[in-house]
Amino acid sequence: MTETAVYNAEQVEAWKQELAAAPYRSYLYSYPHKTAYRPFEDSKPLADLWKNEPSESFFLYMHIPFCGARCGFCNLFTLPDKREDVHARYVDALERQARDWAALASRPFARFAIGGGTPTLLRADQLTRLFDIAEGIMGLNPREASISVETSPETVDPQRLQVLKERGVDRVSMGIQSFIEAEAAAIYRPQKPDEVRRALELLGSFNFPLLNLDLIYGLPGQTLDTWLYSLDQALAYKPGEIFLYPLYTREHTILKPGDVSAAAPEDLRWTLYMAACERLAEHGYEQFSMRRFARRDVVGYSPDKSLLAYGCQEEGMMGLGCGARSYTQNVHYASRYGVSRKATESIIADYVATERYDTADYGFVLDAQEQRRRFVLKGILHSEGLKLSDYQQRFSTEPFDDLPQLRLLTESELAWIEDGVLRMGREGLGYSDAIGDWLISDPVRSRMSAFILP
Ligand SMILES: C[S@@+](CC[C@H](N)C(=O)[O-])C[C@H]1O[C@@H](n2cnc3c(N)ncnc32)[C@H](O)[C@@H]1O
Ligand code: SF4
Repeated sequence: MTETAVYNAEQVEAWKQELAAAPYRSYLYSYPHKTAYRPFEDSKPLADLWKNEPSESFFLYMHIPFCGARCGFCNLFTLPDKREDVHARYVDALERQARDWAALASRPFARFAIGGGTPTLLRADQLTRLFDIAEGIMGLNPREASISVETSPETVDPQRLQVLKERGVDRVSMGIQSFIEAEAAAIYRPQKPDEVRRALELLGSFNFPLLNLDLIYGLPGQTLDTWLYSLDQALAYKPGEIFLYPLYTREHTILKPGDVSAAAPEDLRWTLYMAACERLAEHGYEQFSMRRFARRDVVGYSPDKSLLAYGCQEEGMMGLGCGARSYTQNVHYASRYGVSRKATESIIADYVATERYDTADYGFVLDAQEQRRRFVLKGILHSEGLKLSDYQQRFSTEPFDDLPQLRLLTESELAWIEDGVLRMGREGLGYSDAIGDWLISDPVRSRMSAFILP
């Protein structure tokens, strides 16, 4: 395919300056964003949605929407609630939902993840139930699927880790955010560095094949020195993977945009990102996306499993639990989304009271254009890049014809085409949250801006 320039040098420069002026617009964790979801006019029977799903293997996700407390920056679907009876009733509901969904799982699961919230807030016996549900009801074979669980320092204990170890968990991912007590306190996360070290040492003694640690940059009071200190502390535990998140605050999070120095015109986050990329490269970490860095030697972990292939461009994600999203090729669906205590409590109460979980009522139907955008975004926001022939094969059209603005990526040299793959490097990936935002379609953007958070 030949690529012809359609932008002049001034336009390219102006576009690049726009990115640089506002690199942190929105984290497009998935496209379309959940704030573009709406109630469906008619409930969609799940049996119809999943009947012809083309992917060869599926991804099973379970969402545990509970935490000890809500962190100041967090807008995930989670409720601060430590009550064990509340957790038990929630797992009962999740089990009923799995019974309704089991027949839909017509492909083997290549991946299983338990996320949240903080899944390990659940007691060890409730965690055991989650694995029993995955294997006994949904048909997960833990020897052929990679399994990942999210945790937090204060919920890590030997009983819970023992369950994860026995059930074949390959990857444990722990949120740390910062090793500096004052920085953690400033984001309403009362976390002592000693507590973090205890958790890391305990995790180390269980020797999971892959440990991931999450850190945040752009915290109130953070400097380049304190950021690199936290990064070095994390590196001392030799995690196979590190996720670095730029801090986001929104009007509905406890920390407001104005509370944080990162919102100042001279945004420190870019400097912190670049410094971290360098430090991680020195330690042998490769960059896979704006947020994900991993050591090559641990990619393809799980030595004693024979893992099924999972095509990440394909869909087929079944999300059990309240707040989980599910993706078929053309319908994404979930329960409603909320952040406030009142909203999350009422959405969870509805979920627990539900008798049948066999329809989708809320979500987004992706037409051919939206499926193309999603495919492009999933490709370019990862270092693997967008394989042009995969796109042509799936849609019978060319990405540069469907989305001519992609030429700005190559003309600005934030991306290049090599061996038929459109790929970005460190700088381009660093602009992921601006480039992702820029590629949102008009219909999705207008739904996102009209969304009213309950
Ligand atoms: C589900 S949490 C991780 C597990 C656990 N709940 C914890 O916090 O320890 C996922 C990660 O997303 C990141 N994150 C969530 N909201 C964020 C925000 N507004 N700004 C930056 N990072 C954020 C944090 O690094 C967090 O660890
Ligand atoms: S960052 Fe983690 S622990 Fe904090 S509120 Fe969000 S999900 Fe819960």
